Amino acid sequence: MKRRNFLSLGSALAGSALYAGALPGAQAAGRERLRIGMIGTGMRGQVLLRELVRRADVEVAALCDIEPIMLGRAVQMVMAAGKPAPATFGENGDGYAYRRMLDAGKLDGVIIATPWEWHAQMAIDAMQAKVPVGCEVVAGVSLQDHWNVLDAQLKTGTPYMLLENVCYRRDVLAVLRMVRSGLFGDLVHLQGGYQHDLRAVKFNSGDPSKPYGGGVEFGQKGWSEARWRTEHSVRRNGELYPSHGIGPCAMYTNINRGNRFTRINAFASKAAGLHDYVVRNGGEDHPNARTRFQLGDIVTTTLSCDNGETIILQHDTSLPRPYSLGFRVQGTRGLWMDLNRGVHVEGVSKPHEWDDAQAWFAKYDHPLWRKYGEQAAGAGHGGMDFFVIHAFVEALKENAPMPIDIYDAVTWSAITPLSEQSIALGFQTLDFPDFTGGKWRTRKPIFAFDDRY
Ligand SMILES: NC(=O)c1ccc[n+]([C@@H]2O[C@H](COP(=O)([O-])OP(=O)(O)OC[C@H]3O[C@@H](n4cnc5c(N)ncnc54)[C@H](O)[C@@H]3O)[C@@H](O)[C@H]2O)c1
Repeated sequence: MKRRNFLSLGSALAGSALYAGALPGAQAAGRERLRIGMIGTGMRGQVLLRELVRRADVEVAALCDIEPIMLGRAVQMVMAAGKPAPATFGENGDGYAYRRMLDAGKLDGVIIATPWEWHAQMAIDAMQAKVPVGCEVVAGVSLQDHWNVLDAQLKTGTPYMLLENVCYRRDVLAVLRMVRSGLFGDLVHLQGGYQHDLRAVKFNSGDPSKPYGGGVEFGQKGWSEARWRTEHSVRRNGELYPSHGIGPCAMYTNINRGNRFTRINAFASKAAGLHDYVVRNGGEDHPNARTRFQLGDIVTTTLSCDNGETIILQHDTSLPRPYSLGFRVQGTRGLWMDLNRGVHVEGVSKPHEWDDAQAWFAKYDHPLWRKYGEQAAGAGHGGMDFFVIHAFVEALKENAPMPIDIYDAVTWSAITPLSEQSIALGFQTLDFPDFTGGKWRTRKPIFAFDDRY
């Protein structure tokens, strides 16, 4: 059977309740080397590229970026690793050059690490070209984007994975084992979010050697994320970056696999932080001091689940603060909170006192980290970027379902347009669409049960 057909079969089965492990033929496929392409070789693409070039089972066959400096840096990384020069696309600034790469590349997979507004179209084009997709967060911008990406995946059967790396964080995976072992009892309430001071990401001087801070420019005068991400803070008001927080919470609560989100609402505070930053760093007369940012500094989203859990997400990227994803996982027998690095388990911990979470993490360390921890050392974001690339590559090689699949991708990512809708309607509570069309009732959890990926 040809590799492409083989992959399609795997994906078609992935959505069914039949899956219980690697699909037949996985052994044969397991010895293969994959030709991988990348669309978007900016700051994030280059971090993921570092993981790809380290692997003996991956050939970085093609790279596409419309910014020659970013493309050049990426090519250099491949060459510096002693690998053959990849084919390149996009040098002429054609935003659709990636389509030629998809057609020409004979690729076994493509990583999409472009601005959000491109993700849905690029993923759809890749799936239609039968090139399996590893897509950076988010899956799309509008709600319709999410339905379109889902529709393309279901029609083509081409594998799609959302590259949500936080699901592989060491403490997050240890907590997954705690949850599955019943340590916290019946889960009741969870919290997470994206609490990351991005002001020096949203604004810079436009100097390609300084992507973080040093100015208050954005849009065409900015560099890297300042060039496109800031515009989302100008035009949109919602939970703009849900997956780092909701990914782990969804895995803990088996969303789309026995459970689902039922209702959602979002509240947004005033937008004051970005304007204040521009005025203090660029002066009141800087043209960007006149920009009216729509994004509330703190956006709080609440979700309810069919099994009765509630989940709160907080998006907090425009005010000074140290980084924290703010996880809290609480059940009838105990809880974990990451901000105070605390675990409390009734009957084991001293009453009303926190244990240092580290001892619990050591006890419940995930087999993936025990096996690959050393290899992951030095990879981006404390090692978790190793695992997300590893998972995409290994699942492709084994022709197995993607561990973070199309339903996870669209469900997590659609929180953004739904939260925008809720805020625009005066913080209304809305029904959460069932992207699985009822299949959530019978689908079984598959994420991170062993040490493979
Ligand atoms: N998972 C994580 O931890 C993490 C961290 C950072 C960024 N990201 C995500 O990665 C993605 C990229 O972010 P980034 O920080 O690398 O931004 P970036 O601006 O540094 O890079 C994006 C690149 O895409 C290129 N590009 C834009 N349009 C294109 C097109 N039509 N064809 C080809 N290339 C195109 C740009 O020229 C740029 O080089 C975003 O979705 C972001 O949210 C994820």
